Amino acid sequence: MSCHRQPLRGILNFMKIVIANDHGAVELKKRIAEWLAREGHSVTNLGVDVEERVDYPDQAEKAVQEFQKGGYDLGIVLCGTGIGISIAANKHKGIRCALIHDSFTALMAKQHNNANFLALGGRVSYQEPPETLLKVFLDAEFEGGRHSQRVAKLDALL
Ligand code: RB5
Repeated sequence: MSCHRQPLRGILNFMKIVIANDHGAVELKKRIAEWLAREGHSVTNLGVDVEERVDYPDQAEKAVQEFQKGGYDLGIVLCGTGIGISIAANKHKGIRCALIHDSFTALMAKQHNNANFLALGGRVSYQEPPETLLKVFLDAEFEGGRHSQRVAKLDALL
């Protein structure tokens, strides 16, 4: 039994991810999207690829609408700080967008909050590579238990 667990887990770990960004995170979006693709994940890029000015609430909405079509495991939204676009994403029903800063917040975002969206900032100086934060999140699992009722209360807010 255990010999089958690892390959299956490996297959299940390939995720379908939608990503969107404003002009404040063009380079970080490209870096993250390329890394995710190299890791074997499927990435739908709805963000801007040149530094044309767009409004982050619109970019969040694009990612959320695509995510809500179904089949997606995760949304990643990026603006200059990650703040505006995370606020915007969280205005949509069913979205739990975590603005992560480091490995610890990335881990908690999955283990405790079961976040289905992550936000990062293209103008933020992270102490760890953004890829590390994403890997920590993607490798983690929701702990359930007492956290389930809290997440259910979050989902009931909208
Ligand atoms: C755009 O200049 C900037 O305000 C935006 O990317 C973001 O940082 C907002 O929270």
